[in-house]
Amino acid sequence: MSNKIIIINGPNLNLLGEREQSQYGSITLKKIQENCINKSKELGLDLEFKQSNIEGELVNLIQSSRKVFDGMIINAAAFTHTSVAIRDALNIFRKPIIEVHISNIYRREEFRRKSLISDVVTGGIYGLGDEGYILAIISMQKLLKNEN
Ligand code: DQA
Repeated sequence: MSNKIIIINGPNLNLLGEREQSQYGSITLKKIQENCINKSKELGLDLEFKQSNIEGELVNLIQSSRKVFDGMIINAAAFTHTSVAIRDALNIFRKPIIEVHISNIYRREEFRRKSLISDVVTGGIYGLGDEGYILAIISMQKLLKNEN
């Protein structure tokens, strides 16, 4: 049976392609989703891809994921820097989690240099553009393979 993974995207990532292209490039979230689905298929992973602008919805999604998915990749976007609720939900997941940021949050404004989730996830990728999602899928596949 193939491993099931979920990619969760936070606020404003639905507007990729339109917002701050200097930080995020011109790719749309739809195209990132397509690329992620293709890579997951190639690696034999069953992928669900989600986005929400609403903190509580993200918390609900993370909570309900713990019974369904073997691993999680999350770009919590702005909530990375503010949400104790998302951090607490991730802490309950208890399976591999990879944090992704398209931009290098440590080279940006001071308030982005703090991630409230980095110390409750397995690992992270930042500053490598949308390619970060693909690298995260590859790493997740290895993490899950080593578990089985
Ligand atoms: C982001 C970085 C966050 O600081 C920002 O709020 C985002 C996107 C990234 O992918 O680089 O919305 O998570």
